[in-house]
Amino acid sequence: MTEPVQTPQVFPTRVFSGIQPSGGLTLGNYLGALKRFAEMQKDGVETIYCVVDMHAITVWQDPAKLRQQTREIAAAFLAAGVDPARSILFNQSQVTAHAELAWIFNCVARMGWMNRMTQWKDKAGKNAEAASLGLFAYPALMAADILAYRATHVPVGEDQKQHVELTRDIAIKFNNDFGVNFFPVTEPVIEGVATRVMSLRDGTKKMSKSDPSDQSRINMTDDADTITQKIRKAKTDPEPLPDSIEGLKERPEARNLVNIYAALSRSTPEAVVAEFAGAQFGAFKPKLAELAVSVMAPISDEMNRLMADPAEIDRILGDGADRAEALARPVLDEVHDIVGMIRSRRR
Ligand code: TYM
Repeated sequence: MTEPVQTPQVFPTRVFSGIQPSGGLTLGNYLGALKRFAEMQKDGVETIYCVVDMHAITVWQDPAKLRQQTREIAAAFLAAGVDPARSILFNQSQVTAHAELAWIFNCVARMGWMNRMTQWKDKAGKNAEAASLGLFAYPALMAADILAYRATHVPVGEDQKQHVELTRDIAIKFNNDFGVNFFPVTEPVIEGVATRVMSLRDGTKKMSKSDPSDQSRINMTDDADTITQKIRKAKTDPEPLPDSIEGLKERPEARNLVNIYAALSRSTPEAVVAEFAGAQFGAFKPKLAELAVSVMAPISDEMNRLMADPAEIDRILGDGADRAEALARPVLDEVHDIVGMIRSRRR
């Protein structure tokens, strides 16, 4: 039987992030998450990426569709440049440590914390009584995803900030409750100009896969004509583009298109505004469409190519799950020791 191990004071840099297979992916997911996941693969940094199928079932999912979408999200990770030789890529349910740690965190987190989560309030709406218990406990599972690897950095879009802050609260409370320094206080990494890509129909609303209007978003599977047509029809205002970003302050739609252009061209909003100062949207939009197609079309072609071989995707996910399990299992063993759970099985 093992004694609780001396915990390290300094945690090695480890990156974790996840995406739900609960529908198609948008340009928001690409710019706010996938593109940055690929960029974070550097020597000396461990990157762990997960298709979070257990999160997806907090609202009803058709089983056949869940399987299909899990593979599609995995294909999107790969097409966006996540390299399974450098990163671990797997689907959550194959590594049971996530569920086990989530239970322990259900006992650490407080009802009041969960009640304050805006995503819970938005998704459960007025009929919270009919929402699943899993939807309420969702952020504790997310904390488990991150902390099963003692991840130090979590790249996400702006909308997930509150959940990462809750992960920090759970880590701190666990450490305090048990008098250990076992879990790191994870940093959300919310960087760049595309941490909140907005709807093409309303610059004050997030671009989202659940928006009823398909015109509001660019899907990662849209073809060139569809992308061009959606950008041409995107809502704008009658003014030309300003010559400085201050001029975008009260213009959410214009600001969103400038930010998208900057993110796609790996530039900055300042540089984009300098280039297009005084231009009408009639001139800017075709340039943006051309750029979006040039970046997104090769990715969607690659996704289609990968999706033609589901067995290969499953193999990559299985291999990633084996590697993830090897990292998470010793962490869970230590957690069980810390909490006071007997481990006497021969393994
Ligand atoms: P999900 O699946 O809703 O979104 C995946 C990632 O895409 C980002 N994102 C956006 N970024 C910019 N602009 C947008 N319009 C936009 N829409 C989505 C999200 O911020 C996210 O980074 N709870 C998470 C999944 C999750 C997770 C985790 C993330 C589960 N466990 C552990 C990090 C670490 C979610 O529902 O993301």
